Amino acid sequence: MNNKIRPLPVLAAALAVAVPVFAADVPYPQGYRQWTHVKTLELKPGHPLYEAVGGIHHLYANAAALKGYRGGHRFADGAVIVFDLFAANDAGNATAEGARKAVLVMRKDARRYAATGGWGYQVYDPATQAAKLDAKAQGECHACHQAQEKQGFVFSAWRD
Ligand code: HEC
Repeated sequence: MNNKIRPLPVLAAALAVAVPVFAADVPYPQGYRQWTHVKTLELKPGHPLYEAVGGIHHLYANAAALKGYRGGHRFADGAVIVFDLFAANDAGNATAEGARKAVLVMRKDARRYAATGGWGYQVYDPATQAAKLDAKAQGECHACHQAQEKQGFVFSAWRD
């Protein structure tokens, strides 16, 4: 995680407030727990993105996204990456997953999401599976991911 990245207030707002369903044009990623685990990271208090996405997250890739990660970060249409976010509970010198806080999704479709580098962005409420982002918020997700243009707009990397 890049510490120089500045958090966008809209991300915190999108994750905190249950707003009515807007553009559910990025579908809920059914079955993602059976996909390939890419990596795990814990963001602790003090990290610039803590307010928005603090806690433990696991990233998952579907088969198309896995090909993209392993093939020089060239992601084909149909690639989906999930950012599964949990509270972090510290006890007894161990950190465990707490409640699931949100399910963030990126889905590649070069034509459909042409305005945001070919990626559609959405955040789902884990309890209701309701979509939380409108088009403006989706654009703000991409504004930060734009920094990774040379890596297909994806921050994380694969390792065997
Ligand atoms: C301020 C910068 C920033 C914003 C805004 C942001 N992200 Fe990210 N995102 C990151 C970083 C950094 C990572 C890498 C996390 C890691 O390596 O574990 C990431 C990772 C991801 C991933 C996994 C794929 C990847 O790029 O590694 C998804 C999915 C994702 N973000 C979705 C979203 C969604 C949806 C939004 C809007 C609600 C959003 N992001 C807004 C910085 C941002």
